[in-house]
Amino acid sequence: MPKDRFDLVIAANRLPVDRVTQDDGSVEWRRSPGGLVTAMESVMRGRDGAWIGWSGDPGEAPEPFREDDMQLHPVPLSADEVSDYYEGFSNGSLWPLYHDVIVQPTFKRRWRAAYERINRRFAEAAAELAAQGGTVWVQDYQLQEMPAMLRELRPDLRIGWFNHIPFPPVELFMQLPARESLLHGLLGADFLGFQRKADAYNFLNACRQLLAASVKGDVVRLADGHATRAAAVPISIDAQAMADLANTPQVKARAAEIREQLGDPEHLMLGVDRLDYTKGIRHRLKAVGELYQEGTLDPSTTKFIQVATPSRERLEAYQHIRSQVERTVGQINGDHSPIGAPAVTYLHRSFPREEMAALFLAADVMLVTPLRDGMNLVAKEYIAAHDGTGALVLSEFTGAASELKQAYLTNPHDISALKQSIMNAIQAPPDVLARRMRAMRRQVMTHDVQRWAEDFLTNLAAAPERPR
Ligand code: ADP
Ligand code: F6P
Repeated sequence: MPKDRFDLVIAANRLPVDRVTQDDGSVEWRRSPGGLVTAMESVMRGRDGAWIGWSGDPGEAPEPFREDDMQLHPVPLSADEVSDYYEGFSNGSLWPLYHDVIVQPTFKRRWRAAYERINRRFAEAAAELAAQGGTVWVQDYQLQEMPAMLRELRPDLRIGWFNHIPFPPVELFMQLPARESLLHGLLGADFLGFQRKADAYNFLNACRQLLAASVKGDVVRLADGHATRAAAVPISIDAQAMADLANTPQVKARAAEIREQLGDPEHLMLGVDRLDYTKGIRHRLKAVGELYQEGTLDPSTTKFIQVATPSRERLEAYQHIRSQVERTVGQINGDHSPIGAPAVTYLHRSFPREEMAALFLAADVMLVTPLRDGMNLVAKEYIAAHDGTGALVLSEFTGAASELKQAYLTNPHDISALKQSIMNAIQAPPDVLARRMRAMRRQVMTHDVQRWAEDFLTNLAAAPERPR
């Protein structure tokens, strides 16, 4: 008989696979986009757990099914709920607010009501699936009210929550109409994990200023005595898997072929991002365009590949960034590309892991220039794929910058500084690059996603105490 209760249950807005209904009505499951799935898929492999999430398609939820040792349990969202809870409150209110208001957040009472309703739906699903005394690990900003709702239904559970994105300073967080309910929602958990110390501090500070709660060190205690600990547990990747993949003869051959197809450039730069306004793609293109324009970089010998994965395409802010990026790529190529080999190769689609590894391996310089990013796993993937030289230009506004100190750290808002960082990376002598890469690789290979998951779960088991 199939198991119906699990010791470990993950709740995330999305399942690791996305159900796509084609124009002819046929249904196909594809890997879901984003860093959360990259990380959590590796964590769940080999553990007999369940994953609750939306299938990516509006309407009735498919029946629960098994994949890779995991029970996948779809939660339904109607078309209105996709628009109010996912596109609205999650990605129209919270996402811009939590990313330094790069785009102005919008607040609507209807969106807020849908968010609360869907968080309750997730809590009810987890309450049904978790074994007595089991662990439920809630993921990300879409499910901040779920922990308290779940505790009410199942006080026997250990409840953890991890924020994959930044947590804003209280001056910004205060704008949120539902601010107290979200904090109370999170305080239903035993342990809250954040990407950086600064994010955990921002959360604790919001509790101190906006709630009548006692905050001592990293523990918040409510009047009913329940205590929650908040701390930094920076996420990572399955580093060995990426290193092994990049070391296969097929991926090495493909990396060489990519360079050959671009006319064997002296320097190949790469950007890989969801097409999101937080990623600083426009700033990166501005810097690269100016370097071609003033002749510092030669477009026949220095090429740039930008992979921009389709994301949240019905939202206006995303349509806007897409048209800006595509117009700028067109302008740079129109002004500078030699016949037959574009200066900028723009790819607006998803690729298999092998192709991503080949792109990382082929690139001499990786450009990671977000205006704000919780971690940025792409930066770590590039490092894991490079056993030798290669250079990483990395925005100071990413979580990864706290760990990868030997990257060419840069402020993407300062285009002159960004151009200088790109040139420093391109012109650095091989021994300097090798030394920097060795240090970054040591960090990434020893702080991988398995270690992150163990750290999180150990913290959760000990909370509100610190683990020994
Ligand atoms: P985010 O979670 O904001 O999307 P991250 O950099 O943390 O950003 O994670 C993105 C993940 O998605 C990485 O594992 C990256 O390799 C993967 N990815 C990004 N673009 C593509 C693409 N076009 N095809 C396949 N995988 C992609
Ligand atoms: O943490 C960033 C995030 O929101 C994750 O939930 C996910 O990894 C990624 O961005 C993709 O976003 P979406 O699920 O909205 O396509």
